Amino acid sequence: MSIAIETAGLSETQRQIVELAREFARTRIEPHAAEWDRTKHFPRDVIAELGRLGFLGMATPEEDDGMGLDAVTYLLALEELAAGDASIAVSVAIHNAIPTTMLVRHGSPPQKERWLKPMARGELLAGFALSEPGSGSDAASLCAQAVRDGADWVLSGAKAWATNGGTADVMMIMVRTDRPGARRGAKGISTFIVPTDAAGYRPGKPEDKLGLRASNTVAIALEDVRLPAEHLLGEEGLGFVYAMEGLDVGRLGIAIQAVGIARRALEHALAYCAERRQFGRPLREFQAVQFKLADMATRVEGARALAHAVAARKDRGEEITMQASMAKLFASETAMWVTTQAVQLFGGYGYMRDFPVEKLFRDAKVTEIYEGTSEIQRIVIARDLYRGA
Ligand code: CAA
Repeated sequence: MSIAIETAGLSETQRQIVELAREFARTRIEPHAAEWDRTKHFPRDVIAELGRLGFLGMATPEEDDGMGLDAVTYLLALEELAAGDASIAVSVAIHNAIPTTMLVRHGSPPQKERWLKPMARGELLAGFALSEPGSGSDAASLCAQAVRDGADWVLSGAKAWATNGGTADVMMIMVRTDRPGARRGAKGISTFIVPTDAAGYRPGKPEDKLGLRASNTVAIALEDVRLPAEHLLGEEGLGFVYAMEGLDVGRLGIAIQAVGIARRALEHALAYCAERRQFGRPLREFQAVQFKLADMATRVEGARALAHAVAARKDRGEEITMQASMAKLFASETAMWVTTQAVQLFGGYGYMRDFPVEKLFRDAKVTEIYEGTSEIQRIVIARDLYRGA
């Protein structure tokens, strides 16, 4: 019995995708993950390889040059990448979940031709920027501004913690398009498609993070970035809604990323407890250890099952806002708990960089923070519970 994804019950497409992702993670990602973590190295070449294999177009319809995978299959692939290295998984997940969803739903035919199709073919890497130094959980309070100048828009302001922001080719950026003195809250926000080679787009140096150190996270200064009108996505004033729709899908991706981290920590713990002997017997023979491993496995299975149930709901065309928050909340707290137990089981070795579980423990933490903190997920869930009451 394994805690990895069982391929027996999968469709032929799902089995092929899982095996491709698993093999890629085993050979091209995991052997290098500790080094990338140590050196804060973002392996753009590995992302490009994943792009050539189709992983940057997983969620894009086939008519837009993507794989057109259903959400369940998308999660299966993402879990395998996350089990290899969560830094790689988040880069792929952001690209597939947020900019892709935004363009699929709201892009004009020329925007799809120019941006979505090359993104799906893996020729362009995308990211998105919502947060700002003064606006995190309260996302609608953002201040970056776009002002009309003739037929153009001119963007200025500061963005924070943007995944892929220093390496992407294109970023979806949320800015205000309402006027000072006539602020419209969430309805004053619009989304722009910003090529990162635009004059005035200035990414900062990669942030020095606790975990996910190989993913590219930067602050961005927008210094009078001039864009023609066709870079406005969808309708002016609906950018916040587009961001929230993208985050619904994004949060599901973070849930499965957390499952991948937790599963890998459990796999390491199972192997270690079978091998490590104390008091004359392997750790796995102590009932206290067995109970811990049993609880870890139960939570990993539970978190995966919940994420898959939400993905199936998405595939049926149902709303997933509350359920995606539940999946992310449960999976990220599972990842933090499971990796903490794994470090504990490894004892002194668990605290050392030479062993794999301390990295998984550090990587797990951000899943409780980004794409909405656990507190924000609880707010979203509680609000939905009362909707219509
Ligand atoms: N789908 C569609 N529309 C939605 C929506 C959703 N999931 N959620 C909200 N909306 C709409 C609302 O219906 C509302 O429109 P109407 O007034 O027309 O009804 C509008 O958006 C405003 O919504 P709220 O009134 O609910 O807005 P709020 O200011 O109260 O904020 C919030 C709600 C849930 C707290 C939101 O601010 C939030 O999710 N905050 C967390 C932000 C976040 O997750 N940031 C992560 C950034 S990305 C990142 O982590 C970096 C990275 O690259 C990984």
